Order: sequence, then C-alpha cells, then structure tokens
Amino acid sequence: MTQNREAWGSKIGFILAAAGSAVGLGNIWKFPYIAGENGGAAFIFVYLLCIGIIGFPVLISEVLIGRTTQKNPVGAFASLSNSKLWLSVGFLGVLAGFLILSFYSVIGGWTIGYVIETLRGSLSSFTSPEEAGVLFGSLSGSPAWTLGFHTLFFALTMFIVVKGVQGGIEKSSKIMMPVLLSILVILMVRGVTLDGADEGMAFLWVPDWSKINAQSILIALGHAFFTLSLGMGAMMTYGSYMSKKDSVVTASAQIVLLDTLIALMAGVAIFTAVFASGLNPAAGPGLIFQTLPAVFASMTGGVYFSFLFFLLLAIAALTSAISLLEVVVAYFVDEKGWDRKGAVLIFGGSIYLLGVPSALSFNLMADSKMFGMTFFDVVDFLASNVLLPFGGLMIAIFAGWVWSRTSVMAALKEGAEGLFENYPWFEGVWLFFLKFVAPVLITIVLLNSLGLV
Ligand code: PHE
Repeated sequence: MTQNREAWGSKIGFILAAAGSAVGLGNIWKFPYIAGENGGAAFIFVYLLCIGIIGFPVLISEVLIGRTTQKNPVGAFASLSNSKLWLSVGFLGVLAGFLILSFYSVIGGWTIGYVIETLRGSLSSFTSPEEAGVLFGSLSGSPAWTLGFHTLFFALTMFIVVKGVQGGIEKSSKIMMPVLLSILVILMVRGVTLDGADEGMAFLWVPDWSKINAQSILIALGHAFFTLSLGMGAMMTYGSYMSKKDSVVTASAQIVLLDTLIALMAGVAIFTAVFASGLNPAAGPGLIFQTLPAVFASMTGGVYFSFLFFLLLAIAALTSAISLLEVVVAYFVDEKGWDRKGAVLIFGGSIYLLGVPSALSFNLMADSKMFGMTFFDVVDFLASNVLLPFGGLMIAIFAGWVWSRTSVMAALKEGAEGLFENYPWFEGVWLFFLKFVAPVLITIVLLNSLGLV
C-alpha cells in the first residue's frame, strides 16, 4: 500500500497546503478579536512567545511523526508504539477533525454568505455597527440561510478533497494561497493609508502591560494551538505526504512564519480601519460580522473592500476545512482500505450532518442548551479547548519522552543534515521546549479549560 500512497508534488505545494491549513478563521476572525479584547500589543507579544516556544516545537513533532510513518494519526502512532494509549491519541485526533469541521463549516458558510450579501448591496447602507448587528442577527437567525451556506461550504470542501492530495488539496492551495496574500496586502495598504490609521497601529504595536493577566496568557496559548492546526493530527496527516528529502524544521518554520505574518497583517488591516472609523476594537466575536461591515460602509469604495475581505475569509476557511476533512479521510483510506471517493462521501456526509445542529444553534435550537451552552458552543469548546490541547500535550510527550532520542533525531535530521551541522544547539533547545516547557504550560491551559485552575 505504501508505495502507491499519495504524496505532495513539490515542497512549495506542501508549504502552501500546510500554511493553508494553519491560516484560517483563527487568523482572520478570531485572532483580531481576542487581541482586541485583551488589549492589543501586549497580548500579541505573549501570543508570539507562545507560538515560538510551544507552537513551533510541537509543530515540528507533528509533521515529523507524520513524515516518518507516512500514515494518518491512528496508523502513525500504531507504527511507532504498540501501546493502546497512543492509538487512542490518534483516534481522538480523528474525532477532533470530525467535531471541528462540523462547526467550522457553519462559520465558513457565513463568510460565503457575506460575500453574496456584499454583492447584493445589503451591507452598504449601515451607519453603525448596531445596524450591521441587526442584519447579522437576522441572517444567522434564519435556518435557511445558515443551513444553505453550511451546505455550500461543505460541498466545496468535499469537492476539493475528493480530487486527492496532489490534484485537489495541493492544486487548490497553490491558487488560493497567493490570492489570499494578495487580497490581504490590498486591504492592509487601504487600512494604513486611512486617516487616523496611526491609532490602530499604536493599538497593535505599543504594549500596555497592565492588560496582561493569567487569563489572557491562557487564551494566547490556546490560540497558538488552534491557529497552527496543532493537536489533532492535521499537520501529521499533511506531513505524511511529505518527502524525506526535505527538512521538517525548515518547512515548519516557514509554516509558522506564514501563519504569524498573515495573522498580523489581518490585525493591521482590521484595526487601522476600526480605529479610523472611531469604533470599538473590543467588540468580541462580532468584530468581523458587525463592526467591519459598518467600517466598510463608511469608506469610499467600501463595497469592493468588503467583497475582498469576505472572500479572503472564505478562502482562508476553505483551505483549513480541507485539512480537517483530510485527517478523517486519510484514516479510512489508510487503515480501513476505503477508496477516497467513498470516504469523502460517507464521512464528509456524516460531518455535514453533525454540522446541522451547529447551524441551527443560532436560530431554531438557540434555546436548547447543555451546561448553558448551545450545541455549537459545546462542540467548539470540546474540540478547541479540550481535545486540541490534550492532543498537543500527548504529541509533545510522545516526541519528547516516548520516542527514543536516537530515532527521533535520526528522523529529524533526514533532509536537514546541513541545518544540524550549522546549528548544533538546535537539537538541545528543541528537546528542552518539547520535554519540559510545552507539557507544563499545556497542562495548565487544559486544567484551566476544564475549570480546575
Ligand atoms: N488553523 C485553523 C485556523 O486558524 C483551524 C484548524 C484547527 C484547522 C485544527 C485544522 C486543524 O482557523
């Protein structure tokens, strides 16, 4: 089976696909609003630190486990260890893919919905975020609208994944990622050239340390996982299609840099515009769907920027959604011998159905709550705040403590011989962060999510 397993056609194809997985709603929707709520620059500093000392070492481990075993998360752990414990970590990853994609597609659907609303002209007459909020409430409050766009978004995701690793994921990423970057550059230039943009820049770059507390550090750390697609095997699965001739460390560094750069660029594009319009940067999850449409409505040519912005979000969401579906599909293809098409249809279809109650959580099912949360919130919480940190913790422990140092280093050096000759200290530093820093900090985040600290 291994010899005809799919693989990336080129190194850049892998980088773009993996960066596509990393760059998603997390970068453009979530990062700006949590930075906004947590005081801007100081929070961004802590976030960058978390990415550097935890995200990067864990990303290397995930890609490496995938690349070494050339398997999906379950198969990967099964071939490196014969303990059931590690097998179940792989299973939890596949489960997390199931859960995350189900609600991710609902928000992905909204982004396409907003592209359409922009084209229909319904976003151009707002005079305040409150008015934009009313429209948002009525759109997300409509079962037909939320379900319709969830369906469309999901269909696009399945359409790409069915075409395979090279012909679907790689090919589409090679088109979508450059488009995404170009749009972001246009929006950023528009943002910084607005009158009053300085205030937004100061918010992003001049830290007010008094805004940092234990809670904001935990949010930054949790987000570092989500934004790098860590802890559920997406990067492992993408790594499994990577060539042993390329360096895992360099590729991981490039993915981290792209993801971080894009989050920061989105921050600049959004906050310069929000401040220039005198609006509130701490508007929370509604920042993108309520504050920004009001910003665009007040701008000359705003309708074009609004169109580009929501298109950017839709592309970012789509390239992440395909990686989530690929984890589930790779498991059934590798382990259960399914063909790709059948796996996409059956399991994609089941994830789509699981997304239905999430889509209805904003309307018909808004009042059915478990632990005070809607279905959407429960699935999001379970996946993002429990499964991802747990998976990340286990991956760090596995690569740091369980996998023998000789094998781990031999695997890591494949394709990266020069790097380890030139920077001999890298090995020790990486292992230190992986073995000690990451497990301790992730455990704290996890306990905090569960309300235990
Ligand atoms: N990294 C994606 C984002 O920032 C989300 C994601 C998480 C994708 C886990 C795949 C796996 O939106």
